[in-house]
Amino acid sequence: MIRIFSIVCSCAGRDGATARFSDMAAGMITERAAETGETVEYECITADTVNLSFCRSCNNCFNKGGCPLDNVDDMAKIKEKLISADVIFFCSPVYIGTMSGFAKSLMDRITYYSHRFEFAGKTAVVLVTTSNNHGNATVNDIKKMLQFMGASVAYAGCAYRNGGEPNIYLPDQMAPELYRLAESVLESLNSPEKYIEKWQEQSFMYRNKMNKVAKKFSEIVGIQLTDEMRVCIERGHGNYKTLTDYVLSMKSGEKE
Ligand SMILES: Cc1cc2nc3c(=O)[nH]c(=O)nc-3n(C[C@H](O)[C@H](O)[C@H](O)COP(=O)(O)O)c2cc1C
Repeated sequence: MIRIFSIVCSCAGRDGATARFSDMAAGMITERAAETGETVEYECITADTVNLSFCRSCNNCFNKGGCPLDNVDDMAKIKEKLISADVIFFCSPVYIGTMSGFAKSLMDRITYYSHRFEFAGKTAVVLVTTSNNHGNATVNDIKKMLQFMGASVAYAGCAYRNGGEPNIYLPDQMAPELYRLAESVLESLNSPEKYIEKWQEQSFMYRNKMNKVAKKFSEIVGIQLTDEMRVCIERGHGNYKTLTDYVLSMKSGEKE
């Protein structure tokens, strides 16, 4: 079974254009997966149903792991769903040229995932809607953030309400895009390494180098490592030359 978790960062809710894009994408993946006897479980949460606080810049997530705000809002629940999904949909409308405030606040709260490569081996999809403009810039911003967290971004695209193609309300324009999306997602589930970009490798190698030096230093002077360093070391990131090798080792572990 393929578990898709979609977070729709719009308070227009399930009737909004962005949730509509998410539902259409999940529908096409379900249809294509069924052709090979695979089933899909799809859960979609929209911003209007979530209580989300702003990051307070306490640095607890980097240094000690976890966030004190997880106890006061819905973030613990969202994180659990993100972590247990096979496919993450990150969906946002364009607001004044970029992602919605909710989308950015959510990203702020999981920034530390980027230092831990928390989404390594996971397939991610970016879905953006806009009236007329700034679709591509917004898609690319969100895509970069998810890639920074280690994800294999199989599809990242924008649908338009007015001035561009594909128009979210015109099925004929959406169909080829959705088809391409589903094909990429299904391919990425089998071969996530195909969607790892070169700069993600560089980021992985840089972190590993830093963690190695920090570990040596902490042993010599007897200071504690930050939680994010401890997590990367415990997960054995440093044993792999590339993020691709790490992701492939996760996949082979799954099969055993
Ligand atoms: C506060 C706000 C700002 C917006 N800014 C832009 C914009 O800069 N460019 C644009 O083309 N559309 C803009 N839009 C339109 C939305 O991106 C578009 O209607 C989107 O599909 C809404 O998705 P939703 O129904 O899921 O909320 C804006 C809408 C709102 C409410």
